[in-house]
Amino acid sequence: MSDHYCITLRGLKKSFPSGETTLEVLKGIDLDISWGSYTVITGASGSGKSTLLHIIGGLDRIDSGQVVCCGEPIGSMAERQLSRFRREHVGFIFQNHYLIDDLTVTENLVLPGLMNGYSRKEMEASAAALIERVGLSERRDHHPQQLSGGERQRVAIARAFVNNPSMILADEPTGNLDEDNTRIVMEMLTEIMNEQRKTLVMVTHDQELSRMGEQLYQLKEGVLHRL
Ligand SMILES: Nc1ncnc2c1ncn2[C@@H]1O[C@H](COP(=O)(O)OP(=O)(O)OP(=O)(O)O)[C@@H](O)[C@H]1O
Ligand SMILES: [Mg+2]
Repeated sequence: MSDHYCITLRGLKKSFPSGETTLEVLKGIDLDISWGSYTVITGASGSGKSTLLHIIGGLDRIDSGQVVCCGEPIGSMAERQLSRFRREHVGFIFQNHYLIDDLTVTENLVLPGLMNGYSRKEMEASAAALIERVGLSERRDHHPQQLSGGERQRVAIARAFVNNPSMILADEPTGNLDEDNTRIVMEMLTEIMNEQRKTLVMVTHDQELSRMGEQLYQLKEGVLHRL
């Protein structure tokens, strides 16, 4: 496997138990994603997009195949190493923002860095810069439930970048937003990506959003098709 690629998947299979049988969601995925590229994967609801992204981000295990991300064989890593991998390399933007309601906007960004061994001072500076970047400086002491859906998703984007990860993995980042907020959130994500040029993988069922991809794939019946 080559160093040119940030992500390499070979023969990746993943199924879930479903009553008496098993549901085969990913049936042999092969994929190479270059460092610093933008990849968009589309697919119908239930096609396995979130499952695939969770595997790339070290959040879910595989049945068989190979998964190498940022030079690490995460398909075969123990949980302890996987959590280190996630902290070092992964900025995840979830389908539902997953901000912590008990924490302010600032604390939601500071916390992942503290877990990563950065000092509070460093993290507060980094959080403030990112919060400003997504236009929410005046909301930095608010709690997530005091924000609109679009604002929450902007915080989630800022949080994904706060640890300076190698990869940004975005799962339907605008799934719950109206058209205007979708545009604002995607513009912000694109702008920050252009400034920082990380490897981006976004999954979505929204054909419109797929335009931002340099590489475009469709996930259908458990396999990827290049579009
Ligand atoms: N932990 C789980 N246990 C059992 N089945 C699961 C689990 N996670 C996902 N599935 C099933 O796997 C399939 C793929 O799910 P996944 O969430 O990856 O789809 P998706 O493409 O992200 O869909 P959506 O666009 O609705 O988010 C679905 O049929 C789902 O029910
Ligand atoms: Mg999903």
